[in-house]
Amino acid sequence: MKLVIDFNAIMSWLETLAAISDCPEPPPAVTRVVYTDTDLRARRYLRSLYEAAGLNVRVDAIGNTFARWPGTDADAKPIATGSHTDAIPHSGMFDGTVGVLGGLEAIAALKRAGFRPRRSIDLIMFTSEEPTRFGVGCTGSRAMSGAIEPSRLQALIDDLGDSYDAVRRKAGFDGTLESVRLDNDAYHGFVELHIEQGPTLEADGIDIGVVTAIAAPSMLQFEVIGVGGHAGGVLMPMRRDALCSAAKIVLAIEYLARKSPSPDLVATVGQLNVHPGAVNSIPSRVTFSLDIRDTDVDNRDAIVDEVIAWAGRIAVQRDVIVNHKVLNADPPAWSTPGVVDAIQQACEAEGFSHTRMISRAYHDSLFMARISPMAMIFIPCRGGVSHRPDEYSSPEQIARGVAVLARTLATLSS
Ligand code: HGY
Ligand code: MN
Ligand code: MN
Repeated sequence: MKLVIDFNAIMSWLETLAAISDCPEPPPAVTRVVYTDTDLRARRYLRSLYEAAGLNVRVDAIGNTFARWPGTDADAKPIATGSHTDAIPHSGMFDGTVGVLGGLEAIAALKRAGFRPRRSIDLIMFTSEEPTRFGVGCTGSRAMSGAIEPSRLQALIDDLGDSYDAVRRKAGFDGTLESVRLDNDAYHGFVELHIEQGPTLEADGIDIGVVTAIAAPSMLQFEVIGVGGHAGGVLMPMRRDALCSAAKIVLAIEYLARKSPSPDLVATVGQLNVHPGAVNSIPSRVTFSLDIRDTDVDNRDAIVDEVIAWAGRIAVQRDVIVNHKVLNADPPAWSTPGVVDAIQQACEAEGFSHTRMISRAYHDSLFMARISPMAMIFIPCRGGVSHRPDEYSSPEQIARGVAVLARTLATLSS
């Protein structure tokens, strides 16, 4: 089958989508947080593209969007592809969007080539892959796959204290959270196209990454409670400074991660808030996040335990209180050999170099693996950079990923 990928179309869709952003900096910097007006504007734009492509669109109770290309056999179990279009603050225009808009072009290229799928093909836009607003990532695919209970999902709250349930309803998404749940064998196969968000493919000069596993992510929230006071009036020996204690815990986290026996263990403190946050007031309360991942989930959990023990010792030494909460601690996901093979065959058919690799970033595929055979297609990104405005993959790299995705969908849907 001769496939022609229209990368001008993809680039124009990506650029239009990138301009739908709350970021004070212009594109390619992007901020697009779930259920904001900007997110809703982006969804309207994407829906116009799905409908122009002749796909049947369904939106579930939390905004997961399914654009379906009906297959010739309505009784056959469908397949799916897709990704996310929400973007963390001050990030880039390719994370997630390449999987949604690349999926749209893969379907268009198959249609232009005269292909007809036996199995229906769903292009899924997951409602919120980033943890930005509610602290937990992949709420859309978690709810679809049963990886989060509806009762916990509806109670998640954002920085303004608004609940997930109130916010999603205000954004116009109604229906029961239970209705989002799909069967455990909902799809015959799921493939996600995504930028690598790491340096390997570019460094090794390889066109395509075939993802065989997705590392296990865990997110925790720490709170350090000390005693506040006047920056001038409280002498140093009298202090129980919450920020200095938190700083020691943060450096302990880095130390423990660096000395981890598993080289895949990564730990990041991305958010830290100081109360009361005045220049001349001793911090009385500090909260901070911990994002910790590893392909070896036992090692990840062992390091988490060490961090918690270390924080407890610092609390005693410095006479402060340290509390912590585990927001999520997910197992890794392993790709399905049959789907991996289909991707590799597609690379061979296109003459693209390819390599098997793990994903250190998590994706909705991590949870789709619970309800479908799954694998991912990676394309290189410049310098391995992601979650930054200078995130970049070239039109040629995107087009190669789309061609491999199209061929993989053709194989899985036959
Ligand atoms: O954090 C992640 O791995 C994903 O990009 N949200
Ligand atoms: Mn991301
Ligand atoms: Mn992503």
